[in-house]
Amino acid sequence: MSSGAPNAVVRRAQRGDILLVTIDNPPVNALGADVRAGLLAAIEAADADPAVAAVLIAGSGRTFIGGADIREFGKPPLPPALPDVCNRIEACTKPVVAAIHGPALGGGLEVALAAHYRIALPAAKLGLPEVQLGLLPGAGGTQRTPRLVGAAAALEMMLSGRHLGAAEAHKLGLIDRLASEGDPIEAGLAYARELLAQGAPVRRTRDANALQDRAAQTAAIEAARLETAKKSRGLFSPLKIVEAVQGAVDLPFDEGLALERKLFLACLDSPQRAGLVHAFFAEREAAKSPETQSSQPRPIARIGVVGGGTMGAGIAVSCLDAGLPVTMIERDDEALARGRANVDKVYAGLVAKGRMTEDARAAVMARWNGSTAYDALADADLVIEAVFEDMDVKKAVFAQLDRVCKPGAVLATNTSYLDIDALAASIARPQDVIGLHFFSPANIMKLLEIVVPAEVAPDVVATAFALAKKLRKTPVRAGVCDGFIGNRILAVYRQAADAMMEDGASPYQIDKAVRDFGFPMGPYQMSDLAGGDIGWATRKRRAPTRDPRARYVQIADRLCERGWFGQKTGRGYYLYEGGARTGTPDPEVDAIVDAERERAGVTPRSFTDEEIMRRYMAAMINEGARVVAEKIALRPLDVDVTFVHGYGFPRYRGGPMKYADTVGLPQVLADIRAFAKEDPLFWQPAPLLVELVERGADFASLNQTK
Ligand code: 3HC
Ligand code: NAI
Repeated sequence: MSSGAPNAVVRRAQRGDILLVTIDNPPVNALGADVRAGLLAAIEAADADPAVAAVLIAGSGRTFIGGADIREFGKPPLPPALPDVCNRIEACTKPVVAAIHGPALGGGLEVALAAHYRIALPAAKLGLPEVQLGLLPGAGGTQRTPRLVGAAAALEMMLSGRHLGAAEAHKLGLIDRLASEGDPIEAGLAYARELLAQGAPVRRTRDANALQDRAAQTAAIEAARLETAKKSRGLFSPLKIVEAVQGAVDLPFDEGLALERKLFLACLDSPQRAGLVHAFFAEREAAKSPETQSSQPRPIARIGVVGGGTMGAGIAVSCLDAGLPVTMIERDDEALARGRANVDKVYAGLVAKGRMTEDARAAVMARWNGSTAYDALADADLVIEAVFEDMDVKKAVFAQLDRVCKPGAVLATNTSYLDIDALAASIARPQDVIGLHFFSPANIMKLLEIVVPAEVAPDVVATAFALAKKLRKTPVRAGVCDGFIGNRILAVYRQAADAMMEDGASPYQIDKAVRDFGFPMGPYQMSDLAGGDIGWATRKRRAPTRDPRARYVQIADRLCERGWFGQKTGRGYYLYEGGARTGTPDPEVDAIVDAERERAGVTPRSFTDEEIMRRYMAAMINEGARVVAEKIALRPLDVDVTFVHGYGFPRYRGGPMKYADTVGLPQVLADIRAFAKEDPLFWQPAPLLVELVERGADFASLNQTK
């Protein structure tokens, strides 16, 4: 594209003596090559045209600018580069105003900071979220932001990646003027005219002086460096952000920009950036399903929840938080009172921490209703069952729902493992039955597995995705099988971990290796947190169908037989003395493990942390491949999103299937074949993995993402 011509994505219009430059690049006005070229051309034209006294930059649609075009990362760079465009905007000899009416994120905010004046409407969202993509602001953001708002505030924005509202941004000095609700272009034009009338000069952020007090800035940077080193847990870009801001304090502007560029490119090249960008697109892809493309969701205004235990209460809170009224059903008055207390406890906690007012708590709880009679669900649009994990109990609940719910009500189960096809078939309206598998704590965990039984109507699936959006969950479509996507795969890598434990690795070493890989906790800490009784019940249920030739490690059973279910019983794999939430290793558990090794006739051997992770990941990836081949997950990316949002998989590695691609599928397959020499039954390579290796393909090729 020639640099002088306007183009389709950057429109120009003369409004009196102001050149209005509108970015129109749906869906979020990302700064792709055409936009960059269009902006550059517009500024050049403005400088050259005597009829132009000032420039107004605005965004079309709901967004000002959503940032750099993330799809371009990892591809050969296309000119002009964004930092050059920003510098050119800043160098414009006529005042440039940015009118921000929606998200101005990353490169979008950097464009605004390169402008000379900024006006924001109430819906503006300003942020530098690059850190969430493994990056740092790379178009002057690390240099201009601190000059405008000081190092401390700039670092807080860049290290958290959070979005600031217009009022906060104004208070901070990130924007100059707050406009009221209305047309952003009119507001921007009025502001530009006002500036012209005042004879306001070109005012460049590079010359702003918030960094004058060097001692205070250096102290803020040191504090951020210490905090970041402690908290960023293996992440690459946060410390680079601190380094870049240090440069803003120590170096002249252009040298600071050069440092920022160098650090940005290092981040761009890192596998973490690739993992995080994969996670970004995977989440958005996972939120689409064939049914959301083909059907309209049913309206959802009233929610029913059956069961007020751990999950029912968490689900109720999640719905209440989204502004929905909730009717909870329990077995009797006592259980209902407990259910209400479980819900209220969450809000009481927020009030105690000063994060919610008493009035707000009362207003939320006013939307909660409870009953022991199912008829209270007569007008519910969607009911979520979260009673005991027992097919007969659930069938009895569904029979009641079938009796009382209005036609077209969506009937959902939160079962972790049970056969939803069978549950659906037990009532007269299987087309309305779906799985909504929340994760504990349900009001916090982002993942929602939407489990799609054979008979369900497509618009019920679309309704489930719409509910996920309302609840701000990350949905993943899953098929029916024992454990769906996540718990099915979990069961397999837990077996691999248990086998290593019996073969010589301690549960504490395994947990540590898994944490060092980037998970917040290891499998045995997780089991202690969730309660060992849940897995025990599942193992007992599966015992009759277990392959008699399969290796079965009994250590977990020995713990459960003693009533050691984890945190709630004060001990599990770890000891939780005096109600402690962090456990300490338990010599008695070591002794039980030793005894079990002896019983199984195993001579213990040592494992390196790397060996542990190779087996752990190979088991996860292999079962992930089966889940994809069976269409339990539509694509590998659905497995990735499930693990990142439901199982603590380190986001910067993208997910297990992305990780497999990073390591290389031939390597993963070779590992599995090597492990198979010890246990050929467990380590059977998934046919899909073998096929991909034979074709020289990877999991990404099955994702069909952009
Ligand atoms: N580049 C390319 N595509 C983008 C994009 C971007 N920066 N931001 C969003 N998209 C795409 C999404 O993939 C999605 O595509 P799809 O419809 O095909 O799935 C579509 O735009 C809509 O996105 P959302 O579903 O997220 O829409 P919302 O309305 O919910 O949110 C948003 C809009 C707040 C802008 C959100 O998309 C967002 O947070 N985007 C990322 C912002 C970001 O991280 N910007 C920084 C980029 S890095 C950078 O700028 C580097 C610079 O410093 C040099
Ligand atoms: P829980 O034991 O804490 O709560 C179950 C509640 O259901 C109890 O309050 C009980 O009184 C009530 N209940 C039982 N029968 C009932 C009936 N007929 N009518 C009305 N209420 C009835 O159990 P939890 O942990 O909340 O699990 C519920 C469901 O959620 C199970 O299917 C479980 O597999 C699933 N799940 C659990 C997760 C967890 O981490 N706890 C995670 C994801 C799903």
